[in-house]
Amino acid sequence: MDRREFTFGITRFFSAYLLLDAASLTRSFSASVHQDMERWARQLEEICSDLKLEYIPQYLWQEKIGELFEAVPLEDLLNFIDFENLRKGFSFPDLGVATRMVKFPAIEGLERTTFVKKIFGLRKDRAIIPHGHSNMVSSHLILDGKFRLRQYDKIAEENASLLITPTLDIQTIAGNHSSISDAHNNIHWFIAESDNAFTFDVIVLDLNEQSYDIHNLDMEKAVKNGNGELRVPVLDVESALKKYGKNHHG
Ligand SMILES: [Fe+2]
Repeated sequence: MDRREFTFGITRFFSAYLLLDAASLTRSFSASVHQDMERWARQLEEICSDLKLEYIPQYLWQEKIGELFEAVPLEDLLNFIDFENLRKGFSFPDLGVATRMVKFPAIEGLERTTFVKKIFGLRKDRAIIPHGHSNMVSSHLILDGKFRLRQYDKIAEENASLLITPTLDIQTIAGNHSSISDAHNNIHWFIAESDNAFTFDVIVLDLNEQSYDIHNLDMEKAVKNGNGELRVPVLDVESALKKYGKNHHG
């Protein structure tokens, strides 16, 4: 063997070794990511089922889901829910938002979840219209795009209006998250500020052994009552979508 052959031989040997090593690393990395995601999904189920059974209060669920959304690497979650496939052929409505149900990979004991899991998708300038909730919680992780997000606390439900106070008005991007509950930040209003924008939502319905309800709000008709509170009329969903589903409000 001359020197050239020898070098080639060694190089080929090391290249093959490195390739093999990289392949086995990738395999073990994927397996460990999958295990991490499985653990994450089980923790998600645990806090949602604890909430449903009233072992934990709603504000604590908001804290805990915030921690889980903070902890999960966005890319791993996107793979876990097969986001690329979900967004393929997504039919964006001209007004408001469309949703698609999310399926987790098969996990033993987690064939059914206490929570509803969906992605929400919007075109630019379309909105998840301003609305409040009763007897439910939800949390929203931005998967792609940008939103303007406004939130409000609900002080009281009146006959045909809600008494609310503003809590948040921010720009959000992929990786940011927010939540609502009866206790805190009950009302939300998202407006998409990128060509497309998506959220991943975890929702627990029918809390307090009562059916959940949604209250669409006519924010333009909000009346200040002098101490920072707003009295806002409730709108039927059709009128609310027509008025707020596509942003004409600047
Ligand atoms: Fe909502």
